[in-house]
Amino acid sequence: MSATPVETVYAYHQRSKHQLQRYAAGPDGLDWDSQPNPFRQFQGTQKIPLTVHTEHPDRGFAQLGQPNPSPAPLNLDNLGRLLELSLGLSAWKTYGSGEDRWSLRCNPSSGNLHPTEAYLITPALESLPAGVYHYHSYAHELELRCGFASSPMPATGVAIALSSIHWREAWKYGERAFRYCQHDVGHALGALSYAAAVLGWHIAFDDTWADADIASLLGLERAEDFADAEREVPDLLLWINPQPAQAFSVPSPAALLSAADKGSWSGQANRLSETVDTWVAIELVHAAAIKPATPAIEYVPDTWSQALPCSSTARATDLIYQRRSMQACDPRIALPVDAFFRIMDALLPRLEATPWSAWPYPPRLHLLLFIHRVKGLMPGLYALGRHSTGIQQMQTTFDNPKFTWKKPDNCPEHLPLYQYLVGDASNAARLFSCHQDIAANGAFSVGMLVEFDAALEQGAWQYRRLFWEAGLLGQVLYLEAEAAGMQGTGIGCYFDDEVHQLLGIDGMALQSLYHFTVGKGLVDKRLQTLPPYAHLER
Ligand SMILES: Cc1cc2nc3c(=O)[nH]c(=O)nc-3n(C[C@H](O)[C@H](O)[C@H](O)COP(=O)(O)O)c2cc1C
Repeated sequence: MSATPVETVYAYHQRSKHQLQRYAAGPDGLDWDSQPNPFRQFQGTQKIPLTVHTEHPDRGFAQLGQPNPSPAPLNLDNLGRLLELSLGLSAWKTYGSGEDRWSLRCNPSSGNLHPTEAYLITPALESLPAGVYHYHSYAHELELRCGFASSPMPATGVAIALSSIHWREAWKYGERAFRYCQHDVGHALGALSYAAAVLGWHIAFDDTWADADIASLLGLERAEDFADAEREVPDLLLWINPQPAQAFSVPSPAALLSAADKGSWSGQANRLSETVDTWVAIELVHAAAIKPATPAIEYVPDTWSQALPCSSTARATDLIYQRRSMQACDPRIALPVDAFFRIMDALLPRLEATPWSAWPYPPRLHLLLFIHRVKGLMPGLYALGRHSTGIQQMQTTFDNPKFTWKKPDNCPEHLPLYQYLVGDASNAARLFSCHQDIAANGAFSVGMLVEFDAALEQGAWQYRRLFWEAGLLGQVLYLEAEAAGMQGTGIGCYFDDEVHQLLGIDGMALQSLYHFTVGKGLVDKRLQTLPPYAHLER
């Protein structure tokens, strides 16, 4: 008897766990000749160059949560800004004589491999015919994949859709790569949310769409256009409303699909690698976690008292561009407790706050915190609940007699933050995060615990959304860390079940899904930084 989709997801999740005795199955060494090109492009398409801006709206990061009285108008220039600030290049790095050279983007990516691709679906705007466009981040340009004969949507908003190329991550990480592709989707969604907030635009994840319909809209099923190239799989579709004070009437999937069906398609996807290996476990979990069309989600969110203020005076765009993953951190530097409480507060799913306004689901992730150096908090293990019964759930699931649950004396009342073990947690954090020093030497590190069984009861396709929510949390941590004068790093490499053993978690009710660390990053002086689009002659 063949496995059900949910059984396939459980099986994948188990086999893709790293364990102290063995890592999840991966390639035997890296085949550098087949390293995938991180830039997809479609040959034979009409290109629409986007302006590379040197100046951006002067919005403070601390002000992003407040409504913007003068949102940027919807036009090609501002759509370019949105993409530039979210998925565009943020810098080039070079090493030594300059032969070693790689680009970084505003969105982070596991191994800097960037499996996420983005598409713009737009009505006719000045200098931009209605259609479906692929965003080519290297050239910062739009590539017209499908020209619509007539606009299927009002000229008051646009959609952005994301897709993934699993091979880009599987080349390096093998079976676990499916997880990393999903995390990257979450980070990309977060990056788009922050960029939209800079422009004063509202962004909403429309999770009613079936994956097959997103694929048809983006032309991902057009075998002839990918004849010699690695395929993309559909992820999600977002609506962007540049006038949040006015309702935006969203066209139906049928209207958009009909426009794409009747539209004029062009373009041939470039090949990314000389050879591609198939990872059967990824093919299976991908097939099992495909999403059907579903009704809109309705849930009553928790109400949280007013958000703790962010003391940063930095411009949001400066933080977006300077965001970097630290590779090493300074163990002498501690984070003040007020800055720590603010970071925790920004992780609470307030519907009015960036990026949570874009996320349509009730929160399923809570935080296990390894506190190392927060001035005003005892080092040890802490937990942050992200809904009203999150802490209770952790208390009943963690089976460890040493744990005593106590709210720190100085903790703001509304913050569901509890300490349950006092002591130096740095060795444990390092060990659990695949022996990485960055998990031990910073101010704090995080294990994200997800309500696994409960989510999968809703369907196997919910699996991917758990990683997306984790990626969103990661994006908040990255930018909030920068705002606090620190840096962050996403940690996809961790020993899943060792974390569960520490906590006394038996079964799959709660599972560790992503790690993260925040600290004062050490600058690698051997590297040089170059501007992101110096290679373009415009
Ligand atoms: C899902 C995910 C997992 C990651 N895992 C690790 C990790 O285990 N160790 C590490 O040093 N960096 C990790 N990173 C950081 C990436 O290597 C980094 O984002 C990438 O090199 C691009 O650099 P940037 O973030 O400075 O733009 C991870 C990033 C993401 C998004």
